[in-house]
Amino acid sequence: MYMSMFKRKIECIGVLTSGGDAPGMNAAIRAVTRAAIANGFRVMAVYRGYEGLINNEIREFSTEDVSNIIQRGGTILKTARSRDFETPEGRRKAYDNMLLRGIDALVVIGGNGSLTGARIFAEEYDVPCIGLPGTIDNDLNGTDSTIGYDTTLNTIMECVDKIRDTATSHERIFFVEVMGRDAGFLAQNSAIAAGAEAAIIPEDATGANQLEHFIGRGIRKSKNSSIVLVSESPRCGAMYYAERVKREYPEYDVRVSILGHLQRGGSPSAGDRILASRLGVGAIQAILEGQRNVMIGIKNDEVVYVPFSNAIKSDKPVKKELIDDLAVLSI
Ligand code: F6P
Repeated sequence: MYMSMFKRKIECIGVLTSGGDAPGMNAAIRAVTRAAIANGFRVMAVYRGYEGLINNEIREFSTEDVSNIIQRGGTILKTARSRDFETPEGRRKAYDNMLLRGIDALVVIGGNGSLTGARIFAEEYDVPCIGLPGTIDNDLNGTDSTIGYDTTLNTIMECVDKIRDTATSHERIFFVEVMGRDAGFLAQNSAIAAGAEAAIIPEDATGANQLEHFIGRGIRKSKNSSIVLVSESPRCGAMYYAERVKREYPEYDVRVSILGHLQRGGSPSAGDRILASRLGVGAIQAILEGQRNVMIGIKNDEVVYVPFSNAIKSDKPVKKELIDDLAVLSI
């Protein structure tokens, strides 16, 4: 175990994006860079997430390097899911490169896996790490929303609006599969936003029953088409439910649409740009206050510091009220 060199004054801050990209990550990079420089820090941009820290793909950023990026999807720093960073040898190389490049603290923009990596690294080497919640899945605790979630909700809603046109014309049931990894926020809330008939999400054990109720109601009596949002799942995705309905209710004409990676692209919404900007400024404020090993979140419109251990617990609840609302609204 290394003794920390980080008791000294922080002068240079590294920033990286890691894991699945999310719209708004660029706005976060911009905010971290500009807020850092405004407060007298130097900024080192690390490319390809933790891979870049291990392979020394690092260069200094000025305020101009983050010009004209707030509106762009993806991440200008590139991203990766680093297997090497999961090993002690990989983290050792990352630490050595931080020493080499004079990086005193790290801002990590990413989801659950990325912040878990930051937590382990921070504990192993006593490196001050600040996390920003960057994931379309919205599955980090302690923040009302994550960077990218709002844009992706809007993207899904627009796709479902289009699917609705053809579903109505052909009088079909569509199962639309959306991302979210193990979380149902995207499916549940896009179902409400798009006026879908049901959502099947991992957090709601009654999801499969919901499907039965919905079929049992005899959807064609009142509606000429239906749309069911389904959270991605290796075993029980949209295909599984479509096959079941085809088998059990052969009178229905069923189709599946898996939206896939288009959900991660596109220009960030105003909500995501503002969220990312506030969180980026919050990260630098946290460093100035001597905070370390926390994720910056926004709860009830206030910037909050969430210890990594709380942020990465995979138990952020989908509000029961939203499940009930969808049931009422889809009669
Ligand atoms: O975590 C973001 C996410 O888009 C999940 O919703 C999805 O399960 C996963 O990443 C897909 O990862 P990949 O782009 O590596 O296929």
